[in-house]
Amino acid sequence: MCGIIGYTGYARAMPVIIDGLRKLEHRGYDSAGIAIYREGELEINKKEGPLANLLADLEDNPDSCMGIGHTRWATHGVPSDKNAHPHTDCKGRIALVHNGIIENYASLRKELILEGHDFISETDTEVAAHLIEKFYRGSLETAVRKTVSYLQGSFALAVISRDDPRTIVAAKKGSSLVIGLGEGENYVTSDIPAILERASQLYILEDNEIAVITPDKVSITDFGGNPVEKEIFEVDLEPIAVEKGGYDHFMLKEIHEQPAAIRKTLQGWIKDGRVDLSALEFDEAFKNTRKIYIVACGTAYHAGMVGRLAIEKLARIPVETDIASEFRYRDILWHPDDLMIVISQSGETGDTLAALREAKRRGIKVLAVTNAVGSAAAREADRVIYTHAGPEIAVASTKAYSTQLVVMYLIALYLAEIKQNYDSEEISGLVNNMFYLDAMVEQVLKEQDKIKNLAEKYRDVESTFFLGRGIDYAVAMEGALKLKETSYIHAEAYPAGEIKHGPIALIDDGVPVLALISQDHLVDKAMSNIKEVKARGAVVVAICKENLQENCQECDEQILLPQVNPILAPVVSVVPLQIFAYYMALFRGNNVDTPRNLTKSVTVE
Ligand code: M6R
Repeated sequence: MCGIIGYTGYARAMPVIIDGLRKLEHRGYDSAGIAIYREGELEINKKEGPLANLLADLEDNPDSCMGIGHTRWATHGVPSDKNAHPHTDCKGRIALVHNGIIENYASLRKELILEGHDFISETDTEVAAHLIEKFYRGSLETAVRKTVSYLQGSFALAVISRDDPRTIVAAKKGSSLVIGLGEGENYVTSDIPAILERASQLYILEDNEIAVITPDKVSITDFGGNPVEKEIFEVDLEPIAVEKGGYDHFMLKEIHEQPAAIRKTLQGWIKDGRVDLSALEFDEAFKNTRKIYIVACGTAYHAGMVGRLAIEKLARIPVETDIASEFRYRDILWHPDDLMIVISQSGETGDTLAALREAKRRGIKVLAVTNAVGSAAAREADRVIYTHAGPEIAVASTKAYSTQLVVMYLIALYLAEIKQNYDSEEISGLVNNMFYLDAMVEQVLKEQDKIKNLAEKYRDVESTFFLGRGIDYAVAMEGALKLKETSYIHAEAYPAGEIKHGPIALIDDGVPVLALISQDHLVDKAMSNIKEVKARGAVVVAICKENLQENCQECDEQILLPQVNPILAPVVSVVPLQIFAYYMALFRGNNVDTPRNLTKSVTVE
C-alpha cells in the first residue's frame, strides 16, 4: 500500500529519501511527497501522479539532515496534490506520513473542526496531524502517544516537527514499520528493501509501539509508555535490484528470472532424492495435521489452489483454499489439529495477516510461505518457508507465483511421506521432475516471439476467456488475473466444463479463449468444451503439452509446452500467459510495471 521512508542523521536527508521513495514506488504511485526540516521550518513538496512528477520540481536541500517521504495508494480521497502526504497541522508545525486506515476519522474530524481546526485534504490521515497539534505541549513523543490512543484502525506513522531538527517519532499498529540502524544516522520505513543498502541491522516495531528516532539513539516504548527492549534483526538480503538489466520492464525481467528463482527456491530442501523439510522442526505438526487451510489473496491464492490439489492428491489430507478477505468472516469449524498455510509474496497483505492472526488466536499452527524476509507473516507464523524469487518490483506478480508453486509441491511431497499415504514410485518420480522445472520454463520462454505476435493480433479485443479443467483451471485463474491487471481487458476464468452453465452466452464471433490443456486424463473432456465455444465463434488459443498436440488440432493457435508431469504443469503453463499479459499491456500503451489503481502490497482490509 503506501510507502514510508524517513531519515535523521548528519548527512543530507533529501538523497536518502528520494532513493527510498524510488524503491517504494511500487507500493503506491498515485502521488508522492516529502517533508524536510530546514532552519526551523518544514518544507513540504507533494505531487499527484507518479514519483517522477514530484522529482521534476524538487530542489535539493543541501542543509537538511532530517525528513520523511511517502508514496500513496489512495484510500480516502482521490489522488491529488492536496490529498498526497505528508499532512500537516493548522500551523505547519507538524508533518506526518501514514500507511493504513484510520477507521474513526469521520467522527474525529467533526470534533476537530468544531474545535477550530482547518482541514485541507479529504484523507483519513489528516486527523492524526490535527490531533497531534491539539496535544502538543513541546514533546512530540507525548503528543503522538496521546494521539494514537484516539485512533482506531491500522496505522504506521512517521512524524516530525519544526521544533526539533533531529527527531522522528514513529508509531505502529497493524501496518508495518521498521527502523534501520546506522552510524550517526537512523531510518524508518514501511519496507526493508527501501533502506537495505544503508542499514542491515533493524528494529522491527510491533503493534502498539512508539519509537523516538534521533541520529544517535532509538528508544522504543509501548503505547502505555513502558520501555521495550528490542533485539536487533539482521537482514542478509541482496539490496533491491532497481535496474531492469537490459529489459524494458521489470515484469519481463522477472518473467525471465523464473528458472533461476525456481532453482534457488528448491535449494536445500531435496536430499537423496527426497523432499526433506525436517529442518523446519515442524514434523510433529505436519504428522498431526487433520485438515489444512490455505489462505491467501490474488496470485498467491491461485498458487494455493494448486497447492490444495497437490496436497490432496499426494498426501491425502483434506485442504480448503480460501481468499483471505473472506476467510476471516467465515465461521470456521476449527480443530486443534488443523494447520494453516498462508501464502504471501510481500508477507504484509492485511487480509492474509488477519487470517493468520485469527488462526493463532485459536491456537492453530501456521506455516507462512513468503518472499519477504522479516515480514509480518514471516515473524508471526510458527514456521516460514521462503520463496527465493528475489525482489519482485512489477506489480503483476510472476516469479513469486512460480516459486510459491514450488514450495507448495515441496510441502505436498513432504506431507505425503510423513503421512505415509503415498505411492513411493510416484513421489520419487515427482521429486526428480522438480529438478527439470527450470529447464522447462526456459524452453517455454523461447516461445516469447510467437506469444508476442498473438498479443499483437488480439490487442484490441474487449473480452477474453481462460478455460481449464482440474489444475489447469487454477492456472486459468492466474492467467486471467494477469491479463486484467496489466491490459485492463475483461478476462474471465472458468472451469471449462462450467462455461455451458451460463457464461457461454458471452461467447461471440472472435472472442479469444485461452485454453489450458496439460492434464492428459482430462484432455478429451476439455476438447469437448472447446468445441462448444468454437461452435459459437470463439477463437481458441491452446496452451497444450506437446504430447497432446494431436488432440488440440481443432484449436486456432497452439503454444506448446514441454512434457511436464500433470501435477507440476502450472509452473510451466503459466509462463505463456504471463508473456501474453505483458505484451497485451505493452501494445495497449499501459504502464506495464505500475498498472492503474493497483499497488504491490495491499496492507489495508
Ligand atoms: O503480497 P501478496 O502475495 O500477499 O499479495 C497478494 C495479492 O495482492 C497479489 O498477488 C496481487 O494479486 C498481484 N498484483 C497479482 O499480480
